[in-house]
Amino acid sequence: MNFIPNSPIGIFDSGIGGLSVLRAIRGLMPDESVVYFGDQIHIPYGPRPMEQIGRFSEVITNFLLQQQAKIVVVACNTASAAALKDLRIKFPEMQFVGMEPAVKPAAERTQTGRVGVLATPATFQGALYASVVERFANGVELFQDTCAGLVQQIEQGNLDGRETRQILENALQPMLEKNIDTVVLGCTHYPFVIPVIEQIVGENVRVIDPAPAVAKQTKRLLEAGGLVNPASAGGKIRLFTSDNVKALQSLLPALLGESAVVNNVEWVEEIRIQQT
Ligand code: DGL
Repeated sequence: MNFIPNSPIGIFDSGIGGLSVLRAIRGLMPDESVVYFGDQIHIPYGPRPMEQIGRFSEVITNFLLQQQAKIVVVACNTASAAALKDLRIKFPEMQFVGMEPAVKPAAERTQTGRVGVLATPATFQGALYASVVERFANGVELFQDTCAGLVQQIEQGNLDGRETRQILENALQPMLEKNIDTVVLGCTHYPFVIPVIEQIVGENVRVIDPAPAVAKQTKRLLEAGGLVNPASAGGKIRLFTSDNVKALQSLLPALLGESAVVNNVEWVEEIRIQQT
């Protein structure tokens, strides 16, 4: 593999959630080009078997490599939980940035010693979460919720409608009754509903979006590897979806604040991705 500085940053997620990470990367490194893959035909990843999510992640990484990605950001907590370890073994030359629920900063800052974590079932079941809890949560009580159905609402562009609000109220009210003062967003879709979350929890509860920290980590790795794009002409965004191009395109202004070219790709028997 030959990584070069003016190649794009590769990012993937099961759908549009990783765009919250893309947005942070774009804000920090506007001259970097990005190639993004949203596996919307398979969304949600959260309830799927780990083995299957691992297989999808490997095929997508190969696809991003074909698009010349110089680093891969696994902008999905669920795929990070299921696949990150294996991806690092299978692609030893590639640098990966993964997501893990931000229990560490939450545990450092909480005053009440009680923290809410919102993430998918697979993320909660994975070894990565268990290890984060074991290493960083000491003495802090965690309250977890999978917000069933929320990923699908966000995928449909429902960022503040009745169903979205209801799911978040059901998840957060019991946590508030337990006196949490911090909420960790352990799914990359959830930063898009921060305004609703803040309305529910009020100003005394801190909401932790990990995207800025992930963008900083990506920058650090690019700098350390001599892979920062030297050009200052503004990076380009290329998006790929395994589902509906128009549906994704219509959501971009609300999610990214800009539009971008969206291309369609197709899965071939769950083992290969081809451009259509
Ligand atoms: N955005 C993904 C994450 O960060 C989850 C969405 C899904 O269940 O597919 O976990």
